[in-house]
Formats: sequence, structure tokens, C-alpha cells
Amino acid sequence: MIIAIDGPAASGKGTIARRLAAHYGLPHLDTGLLYRAVGAGALEKAVDFEDVDTLAALAGALDLSALDPESLRAGPIGEAASRVAAIPEVRAKLLMLQQEFAHQPGGAVLDGRDIGTVIAPDAPVKIFVTATPEARAARRHKELVGRGEDVTPESVLDDIRKRDQRDSSRSSAPLIAAADAEIIDNTALDVAASVAAALAIAERRRPR
Ligand code: CDP
Repeated sequence: MIIAIDGPAASGKGTIARRLAAHYGLPHLDTGLLYRAVGAGALEKAVDFEDVDTLAALAGALDLSALDPESLRAGPIGEAASRVAAIPEVRAKLLMLQQEFAHQPGGAVLDGRDIGTVIAPDAPVKIFVTATPEARAARRHKELVGRGEDVTPESVLDDIRKRDQRDSSRSSAPLIAAADAEIIDNTALDVAASVAAALAIAERRRPR
């Protein structure tokens, strides 16, 4: 069974994906980490964001087993990730890796922006998780401050809006709910309630 979870920044899709993966005993891939790794590589090597060939080469050289989620979740990397993610050549390099992960025997849970639309349009369970930009910014602010980053609520909200805009308006695999996805707006839900809503959808849609 493939479970596809998509949604904008800080919508809580990662938490939902991890909980569903644990519940069903499935492997989980946070596909944002792939774009974050390319973005981090670009920042580290001071690659120009217009230099498509070098960015695509970075994407082509990614090693799934060498990703360090902790360091990749740092604030500035999200912005860099969203910039490289708008480049079709970068997305093309990461496509097969994600499709292979999704279609491994037994199934998998993937979360990202285009899992239900591009990576695994055949997934029986598709969930689009969202919340207002303000609610998402408040969560992300808390998370970044918890990591020791010195950010203001205003700058985080600004970053979320910018990324929403870039992720939704790009021509290659824009952030959009698949026509057959079920939407969870968790603006007013706590973690337990949003996981419960996702689990109810998965139970209803999973093949038996
Ligand atoms: O949780 P947050 O949205 O901050 O970060 P993420 O899910 O790790 O994604 C970082 C960036 O990668 C997003 O802003 C997207 O531009 C991009 N991304 C994408 O284009 N496609 C995916 N399947 C996953 C992430």
C-alpha cells in the first residue's frame, strides 16, 4: 500500500507520515529532505541558483542513506530547497529514486509536495494536509526557536508565504492537491486529532 501525504510548509505532513508509517509498519521517506540536501549542497559550495547543470549534478549524486535530517531542517535550508525544487532538471534527477521507494514490495509512506500527483499517482491513500499560513508559521517558529535559531514570528511567516507562492506557482510539479486526495485542514486541530483524521482516511481507503 502506498500512502501519499502532501501539503505546504509546516502543515504537519511529516508528523502524520511518520505516525502512519509506524502504525502500518511501512518504510517512510520525507522527500523534502532530498530537496533540502540539494539546497544545502548548493549553499555549502556557493553554487549559483541559476546554475542548473551543477544543481542537477548535485541531485544526481544524492545518497539516500547519507541524509542527516537534523542538520537539513535548519531554517535557511528550507528556502534554498524551495529554490532548487523549482528546477525541472533537479526534480527529474530525484524522480526515479522516489518512485522506486514508493513502489517497493509491501508499500511505503512518502510525504512531500507532489507525491499524489507525480511520484505515485496510483497511491490508494492520498492525503493533502494544510492549515492557514499563520498557524503554520506559529508552528515553524516554535520549532526553529526550539532548535536555538534566532528568528522572529514575522520573518517565519514571511518565509512561509514566499515558499507557498514559489511552490504553488512553479511549472514543474506545483504544490496542488491531487483530484482524488482527501484534505485535512488542521488549523484548529492538535497533533493527536490530525493524526486520527489521517488514520481514518487511510483505514477507509486502504486496499484489503
Ligand atoms: O516542512 P517544509 O515544507 O518546511 O520543508 P520540506 O517538506 O522539507 O520541503 C522543502 C522544500 O522542498 C519545499 O518548499 C518544496 O519546494 C520542496 N519539495 C518539493 O518540491 N517536492 C517535494 N516532494 C518535497 C519538497
